[in-house]
Amino acid sequence: MNAAVAQARAAGLSIIDLSIGSSDQPPPEVALEALRRATRDPQSSRYPLFSDTAPLRHSAARYMARRFGVALDPETQMLPLIGAQEGLAHLLLATTDPGDTLLLPDPCYPPYFGAAAVAGLKVHTLPLRPEHGFLPVLADVPASLRPRALLLNYPNNPTSAVASLDFFRATAAWCRARGTLLIHDHPYAELSYAGSGPDVAPSALQAGTEGVVELHSLSKSHHMGGYRVGFAVGDAGAVAALARVKGAIDFHPWLGIQAAAAAALETVPAGLEVFQARRDALLPALHAHGWQAEWPQASMYVWAQPPGLQDSVAYALRAARETGVALAPGRAFGGLGEGYVRFALVQPPELLLEAVRRLAGMGLKV
Ligand SMILES: Cc1ncc(COP(=O)(O)O)c(C=O)c1O
Repeated sequence: MNAAVAQARAAGLSIIDLSIGSSDQPPPEVALEALRRATRDPQSSRYPLFSDTAPLRHSAARYMARRFGVALDPETQMLPLIGAQEGLAHLLLATTDPGDTLLLPDPCYPPYFGAAAVAGLKVHTLPLRPEHGFLPVLADVPASLRPRALLLNYPNNPTSAVASLDFFRATAAWCRARGTLLIHDHPYAELSYAGSGPDVAPSALQAGTEGVVELHSLSKSHHMGGYRVGFAVGDAGAVAALARVKGAIDFHPWLGIQAAAAAALETVPAGLEVFQARRDALLPALHAHGWQAEWPQASMYVWAQPPGLQDSVAYALRAARETGVALAPGRAFGGLGEGYVRFALVQPPELLLEAVRRLAGMGLKV
């Protein structure tokens, strides 16, 4: 994709990059102010110890109580992360042994494959199919399988599907019955569109904290992707194991970033309505050109099928090269992603419409 985009640029095309879910909105002003204060404080340059993470842990605990009604002990059930992605890779190392089985959805966020490989896990895939609302059918998992962990993510990347609290209750019960750790990756917790309401993005911890760990991120909700900050919450044993592994590998985020995150978590997430305006512009344009795409209730993505698409990777490469429009090919998210491409709503409506015009002009031939 990088080479294809470079080729388009060399040919003089303007690039419309819709391939990565990196927010283009500014972080909250209180976060920036906390960061400025930290740069002026020489004390903030020391190694951050666990005790130094208390303000962020307490702020995150208040957020979880306010937003989801989940009460957590900031001492034992909460750990700052250098982003949800770092947290997930280390959590798998901390809570599994090489050769264990991990239940992983197909399609899913691609770094999950790498995190499973780094931990030496066997992957058993759970198909996410549109006829089941892109939710896994746990009844189809062989009864003989004893998976060590199940990894889910709703609102979902790439499908934008959402999961109800009833779904999480049933899934948590299924996991507890098998001794399987339920890991819920929740970076899109705040990205539900008006009219859908926050209930479309519940916390898995509302189904209880025992045997459940959830990964939160400031990247999307507070437009702080480059800050690399998030937090893990839930099962005290799993959080303690994660802390031990991270203790061998990293220190906590820089104190200034922790202060910025703690301040951001006290605010009502803002700037998210832009994603809705972009969804509202993009969907009718896609439909007018015969693409299939559901109206997402949450997330910052549109998961779309151009009519008759056979090879999403070849299509995305050609689109980048010939039109300057960069999309994520569905197959990058797993075999069941074939036939789809993913639009990230990270450009203004007029550029989304321009992207659709260019793609329509290109046709499907690869
Ligand atoms: C499902 C999912 N998990 C994790 C991440 C990365 O989160 P963070 O920036 O906190 O590492 C992303 C980013 O796109 C994502 O889509």
